[in-house]
Amino acid sequence: MAPSKLITMFISTVLLVLLLRPAAAQAPSVVRGGYWFPESGFAASAINSRLFTHLFCAFAAVDSGTYRVTISSANQPQFSSFTQTVQRQNPSVKTLLSIAGGSANLATLAAMASQPGRRKAFIDSSISLARQYNFHGLDLDWEYPSDTTQMANFGALLTEWRAAVAAEARSSGKQPLLLTAAVLYLPYYYSSAVPYPIRTISNSLDWINLMAYDFYGPGWSPTTTGPPAALYNPGRRESGDNGVNSWTQSGLPAKKIVLGMPFYGWSWRLADAGKNGLFSPANGKALAGEGSAGYNQINSFIAQNRATKVFNSTVVSDYCYSGTTWIGYDDVQSVSTKVAYAKRKGLLGYFAWHVGADDNWALSTRASQAWGA
Ligand SMILES: *[C@@H]1O[C@H](CO)[C@@H](O)[C@H](O)[C@H]1NC(C)=O
Repeated sequence: MAPSKLITMFISTVLLVLLLRPAAAQAPSVVRGGYWFPESGFAASAINSRLFTHLFCAFAAVDSGTYRVTISSANQPQFSSFTQTVQRQNPSVKTLLSIAGGSANLATLAAMASQPGRRKAFIDSSISLARQYNFHGLDLDWEYPSDTTQMANFGALLTEWRAAVAAEARSSGKQPLLLTAAVLYLPYYYSSAVPYPIRTISNSLDWINLMAYDFYGPGWSPTTTGPPAALYNPGRRESGDNGVNSWTQSGLPAKKIVLGMPFYGWSWRLADAGKNGLFSPANGKALAGEGSAGYNQINSFIAQNRATKVFNSTVVSDYCYSGTTWIGYDDVQSVSTKVAYAKRKGLLGYFAWHVGADDNWALSTRASQAWGA
């Protein structure tokens, strides 16, 4: 055969392979993620997006009548320009529109997932919104499907969502949207022990955001202080390491897990100012509102009150105290230890809730450095 014929055959074979290739999402090699939400008062334009690979814009809502995904009129201006805004400092950062969240109506989510027509309304509207505003993906924060029926419906939703996203990519010729979900740190709903649909999650989602925080807080564990986002917790269930191991032992590949870290802490009022360690007696919250504070506010509290800071390397948590005010949180050492852990464990990456609570990008910078290149 003439060399030119061979070359022609080779080129046409390569072209054929490229054409027949399914529209697969390029799996990111690492997720350095962060959530942003407008109620934080932090401007999206102020996000140092160079420190992130993926930014989550939170939250779009699910309409209780139509089950369509909607963006409130108050959020419309910031959400519609979010991608353009954060890409100014980092043109390669990817954005995901995050749906539902911790204060979403659980009955609406359960009702949406319970019927094929409602799921379709949710799915089709979510894809339209993402494309309309140039998001690269969609993220569902259903906190949480809590019984067998809801878990099964959650699985049906994910399967249909993936199929719809793949079909849309084929017809539009665009990269498929990323699909992710924020989930409990354990692979089952804690009080009912109903498991998540692990295999479906593995097949349908690009990754899950593991909410490995809020293990302790003055609202639900008011009588003792605790490490809110412990990485390890000897003798206790509540830890990021237990969460990660439980998910992988249930069959989810480590490369589908992104470890969550809080850029905020929880406060307690110590019962005795002299007993100020982890698991000390307390009487509920010390700070106003629900008793939480952003990392930047915690640093101000420490400076103003000359509070004592402690890093406990056994649990990988920081805390500070002044008088009877005690705050458990993640400082730079906890964050860098957790990110190194995530990398060592073969996880896909890490994410923070939420970027607006960082202090001059100290935590985000250390997290990014700890993962390395
Ligand atoms: C760290 O916390 C653990 C768990 O509460 C405790 O047993 C240990 O003594 C602490 N380490 C230090 C150095 O205080």
